[in-house]
Amino acid sequence: MIDKFLDGKGALITGGASGFGRGFAFAYAQRGADLVLVDINGELLEETAKKVKQETGQNVIPIVCDVTKSDHVQNMAKQAFNELDNIYILNNNVGGGFGFFDLLRVREDIFDKTIALNLKGQWLIAKEVCKRMKKQKFEPLAGKVIHTASIAGVKVDGGTPVYSISKAGIIAMMQLLAQSLAPKITVNAISPGYHLTGAYKDKLDVMKMTMDEGHVKTPLNRYGTVEDVVNVSVFLASPDSNFITGHNFIVDGGIAEVGVQAYYFKSEI
Ligand SMILES: NC(=O)c1ccc[n+]([C@@H]2O[C@H](COP(=O)([O-])OP(=O)(O)OC[C@H]3O[C@@H](n4cnc5c(N)ncnc54)[C@H](O)[C@@H]3O)[C@@H](O)[C@H]2O)c1
Repeated sequence: MIDKFLDGKGALITGGASGFGRGFAFAYAQRGADLVLVDINGELLEETAKKVKQETGQNVIPIVCDVTKSDHVQNMAKQAFNELDNIYILNNNVGGGFGFFDLLRVREDIFDKTIALNLKGQWLIAKEVCKRMKKQKFEPLAGKVIHTASIAGVKVDGGTPVYSISKAGIIAMMQLLAQSLAPKITVNAISPGYHLTGAYKDKLDVMKMTMDEGHVKTPLNRYGTVEDVVNVSVFLASPDSNFITGHNFIVDGGIAEVGVQAYYFKSEI
């Protein structure tokens, strides 16, 4: 039986209509949370919210919002805290990349768009949600924040340089937030590798092509799934992680830290 450790708690997930966001939504609702799902794609958002509600019986509130726009984010946060009486978990998850270029050839509008979506968007969301989260009376923690970063922010990727810069910025922002929100709120990040989501149009051949072009080798020798990331997020949302803050959890089958397929090094002994 699933432990309902999020009973009576609210979770706000940005990018909640698809990919990891949708995975977090099902997992938290199955553990008793009510949800606010935030996304720019209204149609997909409605569809996901309906499915999660039907399958889990939890309260699921979809809010259409562009996380890069401060007025959208302010209105969304006000509505979220009015609809649910608390937001205990924030998954600050929206992000994405635009094109593959050498850093010195990136157009200014692409640079601005990438930083706005990944870095400014997560900052705006954190600002509006955390100031309210801090005032909550839960003990021992008032809430938990989980950012979605990327291995591109850990080992810079020359194929997607601005994405890398923005994700490295998210890891820095996560640590700064962990400092300023301690001891009331824990703040951590998850850095996925290559996982089949809307980022690859949910198509394995699109993801495989991206990996082949980047000469990516996965030591654990399989593709990443949404569940691989959701499992770590569930841990970070649970009381088991209450003494962990300021960390970036890499979930990539070993790409960033191990580097090449393990069998290259296998001992004959
Ligand atoms: N899929 C991977 O392999 C991978 C690897 C590393 C990091 N990530 C990160 O994971 C996060 C989630 O992406 P995903 O892979 O689940 O992709 P996804 O495309 O399935 O989900 C992203 C969601 O964000 C929404 N969105 C996009 N722009 C928005 C905006 N301005 N305002 C509100 N919502 C917006 C989209 O509509 C979509 O529903 C991103 O931060 C991405 O950078 C993904």
